[in-house]
Amino acid sequence: MTVIATQSLTMRYPRVTALDRLTVDITPGVTGLVGANGAGKSTLIKILLGLSPATEGTASVLGMDVSRDGGAIRERVGYMPEHDCLPPDVSATEFVVHMARMSGLPPTAARERTADTLRHVGLYEERYRAMGGYSTGMKQRVKLAQALVHDPRLVLLDEPTNGLDPVGRDDMLDLIRRVYTDFGISVLVTSHLLGELERTCDHVVVIDGGKLLRASTTADFTQDAALLAVEVTDTDTHPDGTAALRTALTSAGLTLQAPTEAGAPGSGHLLLVDVGAAGGADAGADAVHDTVRDAVADLGLGLIRMEHRRHHISEVFQDDTPAPQLELAGTRPQEGGSDDVA
Ligand SMILES: Nc1ncnc2c1ncn2[C@@H]1O[C@H](COP(=O)(O)OP(=O)(O)O)[C@@H](O)[C@H]1O
Ligand SMILES: [Mg+2]
Repeated sequence: MTVIATQSLTMRYPRVTALDRLTVDITPGVTGLVGANGAGKSTLIKILLGLSPATEGTASVLGMDVSRDGGAIRERVGYMPEHDCLPPDVSATEFVVHMARMSGLPPTAARERTADTLRHVGLYEERYRAMGGYSTGMKQRVKLAQALVHDPRLVLLDEPTNGLDPVGRDDMLDLIRRVYTDFGISVLVTSHLLGELERTCDHVVVIDGGKLLRASTTADFTQDAALLAVEVTDTDTHPDGTAALRTALTSAGLTLQAPTEAGAPGSGHLLLVDVGAAGGADAGADAVHDTVRDAVADLGLGLIRMEHRRHHISEVFQDDTPAPQLELAGTRPQEGGSDDVA
């Protein structure tokens, strides 16, 4: 079952090709659509809503054709636009009731759903105040609420964490996750920050210059590069314990990553052993553990650390040429496991 399917979808503006033969299937759950500014994310969303016709190719949403069934799609899909779109002089309650009525809910149902939805996004007394005085976080919550109020089957959220501080961003990502886990509403959420969607999304679709770069489950992204980080002491016999262990592990048939870049935590002292290379799955990981343990014991080194490291999504692209165009700054993992985005 797919909620969104595109085939060779292309959108050409006079000066730029915003989408370039994009073919992708999106299944139920939370899917992240990631790409740098200008990658074509908002363009795709507007086509999916039936608001702007594609130049070439086809797309369907919940089984409906975007070029024919825009009205029916918008009845069943919620949309959170990227830009500020809230009238400043009405309250959140008035605005969301209005949006619910526009979606066809009768007056009583519209008021009830509005109260429920605003509670879900965490707006309480403030919901009766004019929205002009709201913080960015509160505005983003109202925008999310109006996308949910008519109980859609799918929501398209365009950069919902834009303008939020790290705490506000985490709160918004938790809310988005719960849209699916609590209500079963599928989510397509865009971001120009690769790192932040990693723990929120089941699937990630990466586009660049309107082209599909990669689409897979979040687990696949990170599993591809399961690594074992090993750190050892030096001894009198082996004044450079790390180098000695590197030689021993290589001759035992293990694959090691190139030394970490200078300046990174543990730089020069951390060996990254490729776990997948030993045959994959858990048996492979166990064999790698045993080989490392035996090699450390044979050399008489002290073992400071031996821990699993999943690659973060951002690292998966470090070897690819398109990577520099994505905003990866601040998404590199640190030694303590913190991956806060700046
Ligand atoms: N209405 C438009 N007219 C002309 N060019 C547009 C229009 N909308 C978007 N673009 C261009 O299409 C490209 C993709 O834009 P957009 O979909 O907004 O990217 P994103 O949402 O990923 O930042 C950009 O180069 C942008 O300048
Ligand atoms: Mg955009």
